[in-house]
Amino acid sequence: MSTLQSLAGRHIVVGLSGGIACFKSAELVRELTREGATVQVVMTEAATQFITPVTMQALSGRPVALSQWDAREPNNMAHINLGRGADAIVVAPASADFIAQLAQGRASELLALLCLARPRTGEHACPLLLAPAMNREMWSHPATQRNTTQVVADGAVLLGPAAGEQACGEVGDGRMLEPEELRDELIACFQPKVLAGRKVLVTAGPTFESIDPVRGITNHSSGKMGFAIARAAQEAGAQVTLVAGPVHLATPRHVQRIDVRSAQQMHDAVLPRAAAHDVFIATAAVADWRPAAEAGQKIKKDGSGQPPWLALTENPDILAAVARLPDRPYCVGFAAESEDVARHAREKLTRKNVPLVVGNLGPATFGRDDNKLLLVDADGERELATADKLTLARELVREIAQRLHRHGAEQP
Ligand code: C5P
Repeated sequence: MSTLQSLAGRHIVVGLSGGIACFKSAELVRELTREGATVQVVMTEAATQFITPVTMQALSGRPVALSQWDAREPNNMAHINLGRGADAIVVAPASADFIAQLAQGRASELLALLCLARPRTGEHACPLLLAPAMNREMWSHPATQRNTTQVVADGAVLLGPAAGEQACGEVGDGRMLEPEELRDELIACFQPKVLAGRKVLVTAGPTFESIDPVRGITNHSSGKMGFAIARAAQEAGAQVTLVAGPVHLATPRHVQRIDVRSAQQMHDAVLPRAAAHDVFIATAAVADWRPAAEAGQKIKKDGSGQPPWLALTENPDILAAVARLPDRPYCVGFAAESEDVARHAREKLTRKNVPLVVGNLGPATFGRDDNKLLLVDADGERELATADKLTLARELVREIAQRLHRHGAEQP
């Protein structure tokens, strides 16, 4: 299995201002380095009351920057040096006081100074992401809200805060996002926004067709490819709806998920929504047939040695039904085959009347973390070489975005 490092080659400044949530920043630094980033930690004096620079140095593998008066900087311009080399600055936690400093453009501490001095436009623009963390009363205070609105208007990106239990024992808005959530936000921030303003509908996973209350017909689809596509489309700026069959996978951030079980339920969830979307990507391994009638009670062995006779009926073809809509979205089908992927994919292109079919070898990929895709459309074939599913999903999203652009005029 290939291990994807989504932040390989990125240099991230992680800033800590004062707050209990500093303990989560240690984990954040680990998460970012696991994804391949190099991390430079910068701490305010208040932050050092909550976690030591020693811990942050050990985790980041670099001395922590604490002061603009650090004479070790050859040019004595830590605020310039730190900001110029960074691909992004993420301040986690961002305290109420720190946000207030930013709103006023103050620069009395290295971290605020560094944020003020960062390039905001042009080729070397360095995004500033803020993860607020504070008591709910502090967060909802008009002064904090005013300051936050101001820093966002000035170009900062707000990550959270979340609602929930707070260190003070109260419950409400103001919790810092979890380190994994911040990591994913940062990863998304670097993805090209090729689907900005688009709405994407994705089906994923298997379906489950009940035979009786305890048994059913399903398949080995894990849903991983579809979930990766939903995530990649969201990272690319799309508003994503994911209709998922029965799988145990976490919902990608900011994706609207609708859980279904059977093909009929998936059909009923997709059809009324499809026309409101720009793109429909059918990755689900929908069962072709379902039992004609679901037994009300568990079917018992009757001692005769004869298995019960199971009448099947065909499920609706969701992709073909969407492709028949007068105001259809750009439709992408999947072909999970056991052999001759190209031929079967091309056959589906015609039979389902869709502009793009993505072929893959079902048995070789079901449940696995990597895959290999073959894109088949009217212009020919293109292979996306073996990689983990998220990498492939991002490549596929780019391919779809290009086609949307090119074929835009043809789509109603
Ligand atoms: O050949 P098959 O009908 O299985 O084609 C697979 C493609 O069609 C996939 O994109 C799958 O999600 C979609 N499909 C569907 N509804 C069905 C069967 C397949 O949307 N009932």
